[in-house]
Amino acid sequence: MILVTGGAGFIGANFVLDWLGGCDEPVLNLDKLTYAGNLHNLTSLEGDARHVFVQGDIGDRALVESLLARHQPRAIVNFAAESHVDRSIHGPEDFIQTNVVGTFRLLEAVRHYWKALPATEKEAFRFLHVSTDEVYGSLAPSAPAFTEEHNYEPNSPYSASKAASDHLVRAWHHTYGLPVLTTNCSNNYGPLHFPEKLIPLMIVNALAGKNLPVYGDGMQVRDWLYVRDHCSAIRRVLEAGKVGETYNVGGWNEKPNIEIVKTVCALLDELRPRADGQSYSAQISYVTDRPGHDRRYAIDARKLERELAWKPAETFDTGIRKTVEWYLANPDWVAQVQSGAYREWVAKQYA
Ligand code: NAD
Ligand code: DAU
Repeated sequence: MILVTGGAGFIGANFVLDWLGGCDEPVLNLDKLTYAGNLHNLTSLEGDARHVFVQGDIGDRALVESLLARHQPRAIVNFAAESHVDRSIHGPEDFIQTNVVGTFRLLEAVRHYWKALPATEKEAFRFLHVSTDEVYGSLAPSAPAFTEEHNYEPNSPYSASKAASDHLVRAWHHTYGLPVLTTNCSNNYGPLHFPEKLIPLMIVNALAGKNLPVYGDGMQVRDWLYVRDHCSAIRRVLEAGKVGETYNVGGWNEKPNIEIVKTVCALLDELRPRADGQSYSAQISYVTDRPGHDRRYAIDARKLERELAWKPAETFDTGIRKTVEWYLANPDWVAQVQSGAYREWVAKQYA
């Protein structure tokens, strides 16, 4: 069994579905079910004994210790985090609590569990920490992409909290020998993405006839990776990564935000044309910039490609088309996450 934290969120749920779609090793899924966690992401696993869900906090050491003792996982993949930069600017407290204090408590519970394992299990055990390219800070327009050796220069409360968690993970390896792996990935997109993030927000707003808010001049650059390619990278690192190493994950798809928004509009124009015949791009509206907005991220993923023979399966063109098609095919999912109905459902399930 593996323990996945944050497995009801965007990437975590895709990972759990991908994992159980490819093998029969059970998953223990520990998720607090914040606004971003949604068990409806996992309805296809209802009644599947390979998926054990527990609602709880990675910072609840007693709970984590009891889960580890009971289920004896051979590995942990830590997705659980507060993940949205704008929310971190307006309210950093939860980011410090979960991303820093929560990761610390999780590491402590895991360290004590790992220390007591028999030698063979101890040797094989892995703690994989899922992190972000944002810890490296912002790149100048012509600077080379981030390698694993790039300095940590986080600029937002979110990225600072993720950088702190990466450092804790590194220290727990260096000091206590905990067998850790860290992945630093670029911007993900795909099915189940909460519509507060750029791509799903643009799709959902466009279809609702609302403005498409582009921050500042829209020329900030992000490097986009289809979520299932991130999942395959994590699987590969878990299986063959060198203990103590970090691996950058990215799709070599650097694009300015405005190009992303126009691509989404063009796909919607083709797949669900507006009734008045105009392009959805007429809804684009330039708005006040995000404070401290990082100008450019770009990931150099050559270490992962060279050492672990990982390659993404999707290009940006194939991935973004699949994504727009998924949102068009799943209006109920969108309505539900927007209405908060899923939260009421969770309250009933876990009363
Ligand atoms: P998300 O916000 O969609 O999901 C986070 C999940 O963690 C939710 O299900 C939430 O309920 C759960 N959670 C939050 N606090 C918790 C706690 N204290 N205990 C247990 N569960 C808790 O986030 P995401 O986009 O799926 O990101 C997952 C991870 O990947 C994060 O660590 C994030 O930093 C990292 N990451 C994300 C991206 C991206 O583009 N989305 C890119 C690189 C790295
Ligand atoms: O780089 C990896 C990171 O990508 C992850 O670590 C984060 O968890 C994830 O949220 C994401 O962070 P970003 O801040 O890059 O993602 P977001 O979708 O919020 O914004 C993408 C870009 O689009 C960013 O430059 C801000 C801009 N933007 C965003 C929104 C929501 C807009 O212009 N308008 C918007 O309404």
